[in-house]
Amino acid sequence: MQTIIGTDIQIAANLLEKEELVAIPTETVYGLAGNALSEVAVSKIYTAKNRPSFNPLILHVASLHEIEKYAIVDDISFLIASKLMPGPITLLLPKKQTVPDITTAGSNKVAIRIPNHPITLTLLKNLTFPLAAPSANPSGYISPTTAAHVFSGLEGKIQYILNGGATSIGLESTICEIKNNSILLHRAGAISAEELATLTGLEVKNSSTHATIKTPGQLKSHYAPKIPLIVGNIEEEISNHAGKNIAVISFKHNYANYAGVTCYPLSLQGNISEAANQLFATLRLVDTGNFDIIITEIFPNEGIGPAINDRLNRAQFLHK
Ligand code: TXA
Ligand code: MG
Repeated sequence: MQTIIGTDIQIAANLLEKEELVAIPTETVYGLAGNALSEVAVSKIYTAKNRPSFNPLILHVASLHEIEKYAIVDDISFLIASKLMPGPITLLLPKKQTVPDITTAGSNKVAIRIPNHPITLTLLKNLTFPLAAPSANPSGYISPTTAAHVFSGLEGKIQYILNGGATSIGLESTICEIKNNSILLHRAGAISAEELATLTGLEVKNSSTHATIKTPGQLKSHYAPKIPLIVGNIEEEISNHAGKNIAVISFKHNYANYAGVTCYPLSLQGNISEAANQLFATLRLVDTGNFDIIITEIFPNEGIGPAINDRLNRAQFLHK
């Protein structure tokens, strides 16, 4: 199968109507989309990504009204949706019968979001069904933030990549769920715990310690480059790995003066959102270089910082 990168929303809509897959841009990362109500299309998503069948998919819709077609929306979730969507947040909600079991991997909950990207919002408004869309990467690898990233991972497996440019945020959406009058954070993202607490007046708990369900995205060894990655004190780790060909991914300082080091500061100005936006593209770049090891550090815990640290922690686990 030939994979084409283009900007034609009508081509994308026609393919999706025929239960084919299309990669779509969002503000977070690119998604691998198919008709969320079609078992045929959804099973193609699992196959193309080589994704374990127990790992459920996020529904993408264009409006709050549509969320209510597929899920039961409590008052707090409604507040979050009306204030923060379209945007980089996903709500985990009790699912309605309208959503096939294969899409939620048998779970009675469904994850839903309204992506904030003009092309994809237009596409969704032209369709009569929601789109199931996991990140458009082979399962376990780094999420794509450009159409070219999608192409490098899924060439030959999908017909069309809808090109919407580089994503503006660059990390996957925050996933949250209202439970027992508090907010469970299932995945950190651009919408921070503080922002959710301020908006709702509720306590925000990390789901790894409080959830009864385990979101597969919490599995470690996600987002992993092929080269070993270490999170730590950069200067110490450089000396621990003397003699190796080292890639350093730092927040704002430049470590290029150290022997054997090529340094990739993510934001020389120390802007955490810019750093988040550069992270996945930089990991991919470094992963195709001739390095023995990637050394990075703990990023400041402000704004999207916890989401960066979360992704780096999972990336290092595979090689420990
Ligand atoms: O920003 C994003 O959310 C991107 C873009 C494309 O929208 N999508 C994305 O999808 O990151 P994915 O499949 O790569 O990650 C979704 C996470 C997975 O960890 C999955 O396990 C979890 O959401 N999830 C989805 N539905 C769920 C459900 N019903 N119950 C628990 N976890 C769920
Ligand atoms: Mg993913």
